[in-house]
Formats: sequence, C-alpha cells, structure tokens
Amino acid sequence: MVSTVNVLAVLGVLLAIPHLYRIASFVWLYVLRPTTIKEYLHGPKGGAYAIVTGATDGIGKATAAELLRNGFNLILHGRNEAKMQKVVEELRARVPEKKDADVRYFMADAAQGGHDFEKMIEPFKDLHITLVYHNVGGGDTIGLRLDERTEENVHHMINKNALFPLFLNRALLPYLRRNAQSGPVLVQFFGSLAGDIAPPRLAVYAATKGFLESLTRGLDNDELFFDGPTGVRYSYLAVGAVNSENHEAPMAVSLSTPSSETYAQCIVKRTGCGRRRVAPYAVHAMMQYFLRDVLGDGVIDKASADEMRTLIARTRKGE
Ligand SMILES: NC(=O)c1ccc[n+]([C@@H]2O[C@H](COP(=O)([O-])OP(=O)(O)OC[C@H]3O[C@@H](n4cnc5c(N)ncnc54)[C@H](OP(=O)(O)O)[C@@H]3O)[C@@H](O)[C@H]2O)c1
Repeated sequence: MVSTVNVLAVLGVLLAIPHLYRIASFVWLYVLRPTTIKEYLHGPKGGAYAIVTGATDGIGKATAAELLRNGFNLILHGRNEAKMQKVVEELRARVPEKKDADVRYFMADAAQGGHDFEKMIEPFKDLHITLVYHNVGGGDTIGLRLDERTEENVHHMINKNALFPLFLNRALLPYLRRNAQSGPVLVQFFGSLAGDIAPPRLAVYAATKGFLESLTRGLDNDELFFDGPTGVRYSYLAVGAVNSENHEAPMAVSLSTPSSETYAQCIVKRTGCGRRRVAPYAVHAMMQYFLRDVLGDGVIDKASADEMRTLIARTRKGE
C-alpha cells in the first residue's frame, strides 16, 4: 500500500529536481566548463576578428584587451579619436605578445541617429569577423523623470543603447553569415540588471535593455530555425554592477562590483556557452536569481528606489 510518507517523499524529489538542475548547471557554467573562445578563431590565414563597440573605456576596453590576449584581431569602435589612439597604444603595451595582431577602429557617435551603417562597415566587410560585442551603451544618474528630459535626451538614450546596435548588426549580418560557413559566429548584446527591474528615473534606459533581450531571442530564432541554422548565434549579457572610472559616480570594486578587467575575463570565459541569456559574472548570476525568482517586486522596487536615491545624490555632489 502506498503510504502518505512515500507519496510526500516522491513529491519532494520531484519538486527538488528543477533546483538541483539549476545548481548543477550553475556549477558547470561557472566552475567546470572549459573556455571555448578558441572555437571562434577560424577562417583564412589572416585570422579572425572581433568587433567591440564602446571600446575606449570600461568593460569594452577591458574586453578588447582580453580578446587580443586570446588571439583575435580587433575592430574597435569609439567616439573620440584621440582617446581611441591612446587606447590602441595601451592595448599594444598591455599585450606585447600579440604584436602582430591587426587592430583597427572606426568612429561614430552612437547617440546620434542617421548613420550610414553600410558605409561605416565598408572597410571591414572582407575581414573574417566571428565575434561581435555590442557593448556601447549606458544610462545616467542625473535623476530626471521622463517629462523632465528633453526629447533629444530620450532619442540619444534609445539610439545609443538600442538602435545603434540594431542597425550595426543589420549591416554586418550578411558578412557574419558568410563567415559562419567556416565555424561559429556569435553576436552579444550588453544588457543590464536595470532591464529586469526598471528602477525609477531609469525607465527609458531599462526599456532599451529589455528591447535588446527580446531582439536577441528573435534574431537567434531567425538564424537557428527558419532557414537555418546559419551558424550565427546571439546572446544577451545580463550585466550587473561593474566598476568603470568612466562613470559619473564610479562604484568601488567589491565582490558584487568587479573591476572591468575581472568582468572582461568572465565575458570571454562565457563566450560560446550556448545560452541566450547569461550573466558572465557568477555573483551577478546569484543576485539575479534572488531578484528575479525569489524576492517579490514590492521588495525590489523599494530597494532599487533607495539605491537610485543614493546614486543620484552622489552624482549631484560630484563624488
Ligand atoms: N558598468 C556597469 O555597472 C554596467 C551595469 C549594467 C550594464 N552595463 C552595460 O555595459 C556596457 C558598458 O558599460 P561600461 O560601464 O563599461 O561603460 P563606460 O565605462 O561608460 O564605457 C562606455 C564606452 O562606450 C563609449 N560611448 C559612450 N557613449 C558613446 C557614444 N554616444 N558614442 C560612441 N561611444 C560611446 C565610451 O566612450 P568614451 O570613452 O568616449 O566615453 C566608452 O568607450 C553598457 O552597454 C552598459 O549599459 C554596465
């Protein structure tokens, strides 16, 4: 006869399975899985190229250094040519063992509309690009409500975070599909925790990151399931707090706020892990689990408002 204890035991095991699976996949991704970045080093003799947008500071610059170290040629994007030239010199100095690598760049103010993206990528279309890091972006901590922002401010936020990566990707796609004939090609959009929790005074920024997450899934479905697979894949990086001296109010490095360099190493380690959404840094993954799956919206919304008050006050004091 089936006892109540046995039924409860079976029920307990069934309920535990998803949690055990989650723990096992966490350990696999962040502890056991070997890096597969070298799989993207395919193509002709000249080698493979990685594009990094917003590469003159913060996470973008650190990711460029990490990719160079791993054998990629680079195509960097920025908005300030003098700063870019210094960054190229700095990268060469930081990774002297890759002195033969090709490092190119292009300039474009991502916040402006009306770019000719075909023309922008013309000098690079014959290069064997296998990785694209759509890193350019960012919010602000000036603390304005939507109706206190100018239309121009809102357009700039949407252009920089959503439309620039969208149209750059659109122009690159035919060449990425061509390159995918000799091995995998991956496009990564840089998201934000703000996209999940939409803090006050950051609604537009948060919405642009939500846009990127949906875009990732749709474009990945396009390449995988319709006429595909074409070999081009997409991933959304769920970025949490990362220290960057480029910010109006930089956050100090801590366990929950890695340096850009530590974070870039994590990005490169998770590149090619096969997930459409991934938090490159393990501590952020744990934090996002609690925020998204454990805590209720009420707790999160109040806590994020408190955090925003602190950040806005720091920005206004010029700290
Ligand atoms: N750091 C974080 O805590 C955090 C958290 C969540 C999400 N993210 C996301 O991660 C990505 C990188 O963030 P980050 O903190 O590393 O940023 P960052 O340190 O401010 O660096 C941003 C990079 O983008 C460039 N850039 C900014 N506006 C531009 C424009 N209008 N046109 C062209 N280039 C422009 C900057 O150029 P200059 O050097 O000329 O300024 C710099 O190279 C962003 O997509 C951001 O939304 C970051």
